[in-house]
Amino acid sequence: MKKRITAIILAGGKGSRMGSKKPKQFLEIANKPIILYSLEIFDKCKDITDIVVVCYKAGINPLKSIIKKAGKINKKVKIVPGGKTRQESSFNGLQACSKNTEYVLIHDSARPFIDEKMIKRVLKATINSGAVTTVTNIIDTVVEVKGNRVKNILNRDDIKRVQTPQGFDYKLILSAHRSALKKGFSDATDDCSLVKLYGMDYMTVKGSEKNIKITTKNDLH
Ligand code: CTP
Ligand code: MG
Repeated sequence: MKKRITAIILAGGKGSRMGSKKPKQFLEIANKPIILYSLEIFDKCKDITDIVVVCYKAGINPLKSIIKKAGKINKKVKIVPGGKTRQESSFNGLQACSKNTEYVLIHDSARPFIDEKMIKRVLKATINSGAVTTVTNIIDTVVEVKGNRVKNILNRDDIKRVQTPQGFDYKLILSAHRSALKKGFSDATDDCSLVKLYGMDYMTVKGSEKNIKITTKNDLH
């Protein structure tokens, strides 16, 4: 039987570092709202059975209009309200998944440049290992500092940059979220760090240099 795999797209943020009127996920690149890029790719990907979008409350109706206007999203998209932090939004998304979901891919809507190959890599590794993040290599020399004094030169081969999508066994990530909340932890910037906090390891797969997180006005160019 086909595995039940839900894509959770996070659009609950307000994009304060972008400093635009609209939160960044609704800004357009080449006449297309940023949120629509990842939504279309998850919609196209046959392995994904369900889609949940987590959106800040006032954005829910505009989001529905964007989806309607795009006219080519074939899967049913469940939209749920976001929380105060990314972690809260992600937890809301997890709780909105159908009970028989087996795996979830959690993705930042602020990363529009994903592709199906990346999704397939994440899924394969998730089914094998239970928790996975996409990463890229670091090309600069990386140093550890105290104030402006360099304390250490780090071995960049041992360091990666973390991206989304991240993939999880559904029950594992739900337990990791609940456990983090019990410990009073509520502002993780990604979901894999909650798996680590839960005492478990996670794996990496290759992300992409193109898969930037649009954060400031510069990134839009
Ligand atoms: N996010 C979310 N709910 C929040 C905060 C963030 O769903 N309460 C989502 C954002 O919409 C984004 C992703 O998490 O797709 C990564 O967050 P980030 O790039 O930090 O976006 P914002 O929080 O919106 O931006 P900023 O931190 O500049 O305010
Ligand atoms: Mg943020």
